[in-house]
Amino acid sequence: MDTLAVAQKSLDRKGFLDLDVDPTLDLFEEIKKLKREKNAIILAHYYQEPDIQDIADYIGDSLGLSQKAESTDADIIVFAGVHFMAETAKMLNPQKKVLLPDLKAGCSLADSAPAPLFRKFKEKYPDHVVVSYINCTAELKTMTDVCCTSTNAVHIIDSIPEDQPIIFAPDKNLGAYLQRKTGREMVIWNGSCMVHEIFSDEKITKLLQRHPSAKFIAHPECEAHILEKADHIASTTGLLNFTRDDEATEFVVATESGIIHQMQKASPHKTFIPAPPDNTCACNECPHMRRNTLEKLYLCMKHEQPEIHLDQWVIDEGRACIDRMLEVSARAGL
Ligand code: 13P
Ligand code: SF4
Repeated sequence: MDTLAVAQKSLDRKGFLDLDVDPTLDLFEEIKKLKREKNAIILAHYYQEPDIQDIADYIGDSLGLSQKAESTDADIIVFAGVHFMAETAKMLNPQKKVLLPDLKAGCSLADSAPAPLFRKFKEKYPDHVVVSYINCTAELKTMTDVCCTSTNAVHIIDSIPEDQPIIFAPDKNLGAYLQRKTGREMVIWNGSCMVHEIFSDEKITKLLQRHPSAKFIAHPECEAHILEKADHIASTTGLLNFTRDDEATEFVVATESGIIHQMQKASPHKTFIPAPPDNTCACNECPHMRRNTLEKLYLCMKHEQPEIHLDQWVIDEGRACIDRMLEVSARAGL
């Protein structure tokens, strides 16, 4: 068996190409070379490790990444993020090759709404429209009327006629936040993100007492009792912009700590403290996002593997809810 055939076997098992990378290689230079040779674009989420953010062509939140995936004229989209994001890119631009450095980079929130269970749940509410957070599987999107991200969620809910009942899936924390923000009662699926639901109220209170001039900022995937304390609630891009524009010089940040890399770059004179989680480990890193590494990114670009494949029916039936989301976002100037 040749090297790539061996690697393919390991890919089937492990979800990434398990090949040795020459430790003397300058991976930044090699990746840049591959980008040029293959006309590839690297799209990275803010929760990726700093090296990956630094080599990416575009870094953004879920909305920005979807818009970029739709508009790119590159031949290959290398998605440095998690599986549902790469699937969304494939749905938006099905003729492109979409690569994900590690196929097992999943998402606890997307996993919390398995399509067969959701189908049964939806049957109980035949007159409801389904709004799904983009952090869901491609199959769930086939059962969704309109998608949203944390940037446009309020606009999406507001775009639905007031007398139209809504199911919101899969994030119960974002759903509850939207109910409070828009005043709309919704039927909410009971899912959550493993990173955003572990912040410790008590530890954050103590931290803020020690840093009285710090502003506390949080992502709407956090639980209500954490959001209550926040000076500002927004998507990752919204939080980043807030730290850049606000006069405060110290921020306690309740979201995945990868975003702090961009916050620090945008405001080098400011201090960013990751909000402490409610466990013995002191980090807020998403174990799914962090499966991607610079080595896996390099190998996946070199061998054009692992690739995202979707059944044609999933693309056909799942795309409309993303298109609707992008239309509402464009009308709102997002
Ligand atoms: P945004 O970057 O769109 O705010 O989403 C956060 C997130 O949890 C992505 O997995
Ligand atoms: Fe999913 Fe949460 Fe990780 Fe985002 S941070 S990919 S929502 S598990």
